[in-house]
Amino acid sequence: MILVTGGAGYIGSHCVLELLKKGNEVVVFDNLSTGHQETVDTLKKIGKLHFVKGDLQNLADISGVFGDYRIDAVIHFAAFSQVGESMKNPQKYYYNNVYGTLNLLNAMIEHDVKKIVFSSTAATYGEPEYVPIDENHPQKPINPYGNSKLMVEKIMDDYDKAYGLKSVRLRYFNVAGAHSSGVIGENHSIETHLIPNILKSTFDNARTFEMYGDDYNTKDGTCIRDYINIEDLVSAHLAALQYLAEGGDTNFFNLGTNAGNSVKEVFEACEKVTEKNIPVKVMPRRPGDPAVLIADNKKAKKYLNWTPQKNLLESIQTSYVWEEKMHTLK
Ligand SMILES: NC(=O)c1ccc[n+]([C@@H]2O[C@H](COP(=O)([O-])OP(=O)(O)OC[C@H]3O[C@@H](n4cnc5c(N)ncnc54)[C@H](O)[C@@H]3O)[C@@H](O)[C@H]2O)c1
Repeated sequence: MILVTGGAGYIGSHCVLELLKKGNEVVVFDNLSTGHQETVDTLKKIGKLHFVKGDLQNLADISGVFGDYRIDAVIHFAAFSQVGESMKNPQKYYYNNVYGTLNLLNAMIEHDVKKIVFSSTAATYGEPEYVPIDENHPQKPINPYGNSKLMVEKIMDDYDKAYGLKSVRLRYFNVAGAHSSGVIGENHSIETHLIPNILKSTFDNARTFEMYGDDYNTKDGTCIRDYINIEDLVSAHLAALQYLAEGGDTNFFNLGTNAGNSVKEVFEACEKVTEKNIPVKVMPRRPGDPAVLIADNKKAKKYLNWTPQKNLLESIQTSYVWEEKMHTLK
């Protein structure tokens, strides 16, 4: 049985769906702080899913799960993940992302569960010293969110040495798209991600898409990011579970496509997919946005036998189907 923390959220729910489709029995542990009960209800129709509403910051909540279910491995998505908020309120991030994870790891050790796949992030690298960024790039986060994820990575190394806990840390670049079935998608109450923000402007005439900075040292002046499709990202998690099940050692991998798209390119692709002219306004740069972030994904390809299959247009298409659905339900 696989325990998925944060399985009611965006990435976690897509991972749960694939686990269920492959016949796994899954326990979702989530406090629904940013996740959704409706998502859990949708997933319950797909396979054998147990839902436990609980908070990682409460040791008894998470410890109880290991007492109640025979867990073989954990995939840990639960965290807060807004960079800007983490700068205003670091306490919230260190408590949830670091202390919450410590509770999870301690409960695992106590119940002799020794395999975990963890959502880390490109934000652990900080300002890039070179691109594409490989896993040997120095990790120097520039905000509390990135710090909290790097702290967890270090804790996991120490827990391996002391307790034999094996972890795979997956450092995501920009995750994009919705499930191709249309049943689940990205649903953040405060949306900070580029593609859903552009697409939301197509449904609301009063809403103009704000493009932050067009004077970067890039081909068209806008920031370049590496967009990894959600279903490709999920398949890497399943490959990481397999890697650990086969006795793989603690390791860490970038999840990206090895290529980048500028904000202008993404915007134009959204106009193409939606066949609409989307209102746009250029704003000043946001502090802390590097010009280019692109993953070197060779290591994941080699060790996880994984290759991303979907392109940017497919991510935008699935996102658009999902955004339309959410808009009509409003
Ligand atoms: N979305 C991205 O582009 C991206 C990029 C890099 C890393 N990540 C990481 O991936 C993970 C998932 O991100 P997401 O976009 O799906 O976010 P999300 O907010 O949609 O999902 C997070 C889930 O965790 C739950 N949760 C949070 N704190 C909890 C706690 N203390 N106890 C129990 N449940 C808790 C929330 O209710 C939510 O369901 C996060 O760890 C995030 O840092 C995301």
